[in-house]
Amino acid sequence: MLKNKPEILFLLHIVKRIGIFTSGGDSPGMNACIRAAVRTCLAYNIEPYGIRRGYEGMIDDDVHPLHAGSVSNIIQYGGTVLKTARSAEFRTPEGRAKAAENLKKHKIEGLVCIGGNGSYTGALFLQKEHGIPTVGCPGTIDNDLAGTDYTIGFDTAVNTAVEAIDRIRDTAESHGRVFFVEVMGRDSGYIGLYAGLAGGAEGILIPEKGNQFDVLIKHYKQKSRKKEFSIYVVAEGDEEGKALELSHRFLQHYPQSDTRVVVLGHIQRGGKPSASDRILASRLGAHAVKGLTEGLNNCAVGVIRDEIVYTSFEEAIKGKKELNNNLWVLNEMICR
Ligand code: F6P
Repeated sequence: MLKNKPEILFLLHIVKRIGIFTSGGDSPGMNACIRAAVRTCLAYNIEPYGIRRGYEGMIDDDVHPLHAGSVSNIIQYGGTVLKTARSAEFRTPEGRAKAAENLKKHKIEGLVCIGGNGSYTGALFLQKEHGIPTVGCPGTIDNDLAGTDYTIGFDTAVNTAVEAIDRIRDTAESHGRVFFVEVMGRDSGYIGLYAGLAGGAEGILIPEKGNQFDVLIKHYKQKSRKKEFSIYVVAEGDEEGKALELSHRFLQHYPQSDTRVVVLGHIQRGGKPSASDRILASRLGAHAVKGLTEGLNNCAVGVIRDEIVYTSFEEAIKGKKELNNNLWVLNEMICR
C-alpha cells in the first residue's frame, strides 16, 4: 500500500552500496533498526556502510563498511551504535557538498536515514542538490511524524514515563502532595497524553488542547478530602507553561498545597527498547532498504494500521500528526 505516493526515480534499481545513519535525538530502538537495515542489505547482496554521527560524520568522512557481526548483540540497547548529532554545518550548502562528495567517493548509491523532522529535511536537500536518494525511518520518541502510527522509541519513552509516574504516585499519596510531572515531546502532546492516561494522571496538559490549567484549578477545588494528592502530566511544549511555571501558578491558587515538580527529561530517551519498538524498528529498517531497491526516494517508511506505507518526506514533515482524539475524550471521562 502506498500512501502519498513518493517520488519514484527508477524502477527495480540495482543498488550495490547503501549508507545507514542515525541523526537528531537518539531514541530506543534505533539499534534494532540499524541491525535490520544491515542484515536486509546483506540478504539482498548489497554492501551496507555505516555513517557515524549522522550528517556530521558524512561531512567528516566517518564512513565504514559494516557486516553481519557489526550489528550482533545490539538489539537490546538504547542509544545508537552509529552515534548521532545535530549538524549545524550540514545546514549550509558547503557542508552538504562535502557530505555528498564523501558519499560519492565511497560509491554509496542510497541512504537509510533514521531520525526525525530535521533529518528528513537534510535528506531532501541532499537529493535536490546532489541527487542522492534516501528512504527514512521515523526515529524519535516524540511520535510527531505523519506517515506512521508510531515512531521508533515512542513506546519505550511512554513506558519509562509511566514507570516514573507510578513511583511518584507512592510519595504523592503518602504525603498528600501535588506533583507536576513534565514529559518530553517537543511541540507534540503524544507522550503526555499516553503517559498521562496510562499513569492515571488527574490532569494532562498538552499543546494540542488549550485552557487545561483552568480546568485543573477548578477540579482541585472540588476535591472533598483535605490532604488530597494529585498527579498532573505536563508536556514540555504545552503553551500554558512548563511544569515549574504551572506549579507556581497553582501555588498562587492553593498556597497551602504541598507541591512538587519532576522533569523527567532525558531519562525518557534512554534505556532498553520495548519489544514493540524493537519489532517496529526491525520492520522499518528492513523496508527502508527494500524501498531503495525498488527505486523509492525522498520518502519515509512507516506502519499504519499494521501495514507498511511510504510517505513523501514533504508530507511526513509538513503534515501535522493528529492526536488521537478518542484517547483525549476517554481521558476526560475517566481521569477523576
Ligand atoms: O526530539 C526528541 C527530543 O527528546 C524532544 O522530546 C526534546 O524536546 C529534544 O529532543 C531535546 O533535545 P536535546 O537532547 O538536544 O536537548
